[in-house]
Amino acid sequence: MKLGRVRNIVVVAGAGISTGSGIPDFRTPGTGLYANLAKYDIPYPEAIFNIDYFSDNPHPFFSLAKELYPGHHRPNYVHYFIRMLHQKGLLLRMYTQNIDGLEKLCGIPDDKLVEAHGSFATAACHLCYTPYPAEEAKQAIMKGNVPICTFCAGAVKPNVVFFGEDLPEKYFQHAEDFPKADLLMIMGTSLKIEPFASLVNTVKSTVPRLLLNRDPVGPFERRPLRRADYMELGDLSDSVRKLAEILGWHTEIQDLMNSHENGLRSYTDPSNSSGENSDSSETDSMH
Ligand code: APR
Repeated sequence: MKLGRVRNIVVVAGAGISTGSGIPDFRTPGTGLYANLAKYDIPYPEAIFNIDYFSDNPHPFFSLAKELYPGHHRPNYVHYFIRMLHQKGLLLRMYTQNIDGLEKLCGIPDDKLVEAHGSFATAACHLCYTPYPAEEAKQAIMKGNVPICTFCAGAVKPNVVFFGEDLPEKYFQHAEDFPKADLLMIMGTSLKIEPFASLVNTVKSTVPRLLLNRDPVGPFERRPLRRADYMELGDLSDSVRKLAEILGWHTEIQDLMNSHENGLRSYTDPSNSSGENSDSSETDSMH
């Protein structure tokens, strides 16, 4: 990267990039979401995101959805590192499994982001797929009601991808992106869920793959590692900061994060004769 030999980085991410924002991941023993679903009285943890189970009983998902809806958490340093990749013109695309919306909130543009497991931004009937106003669905769910399709009376759900559902159209952009990548960064995922997990095997064999994660996962569990595979194990906030420091980007990322997160007013611009403050804060439409 420092030698400017890398221009098309693909990032693959999972829930581990958002634990620093206070959102539990799914499978860390004890704290992961799947270890804390006893109150929902479901047959097994993943049932809460299973489309057939939802069809039969949407209530467990809807009560969990109240806690999952974006709006209470903010992006962290790891998200801003990935945004900095974009700012530097190095990000070909980010493929995330996360539905917390933090990638968009930190300013990663839509055309650089694939939310492979969907998001809460839109909603539709789970039976006939008729679109449904997302805000209306959210209001109903927050009140403990089940939003009902106006066309077929099926239960409406936010367009997060359930087990048993197809991934969004945009996901299939991977067929073009991964062969073009000249560096693959894998962050905060157990690489347990298909078809997403297999994406990491679709870069050219000579392309370096860098795993930043608490523990080795997927092809990184194999010994010896493949020639072009590298991994930095440990807490993502430490490993990403270390990488940022090596690249000389740490202060820039912190400044970007502070100005975006705190909506710091930019000072009067000397060239602006009216002397008004040009407010640089960006309000996120989701807030
Ligand atoms: N630093 C480093 N690694 C971390 C951190 C952290 N702060 N927090 C979590 N991790 C690691 C965990 O050790 C684990 O390897 O991130 C990984 C998270 O794995 P999962 O909890 O399985 O989350 P994810 O891979 O995103 O799950 C994939 O499973 O249930 C489905 O659709 C759901 O998108 C989700 C998919």
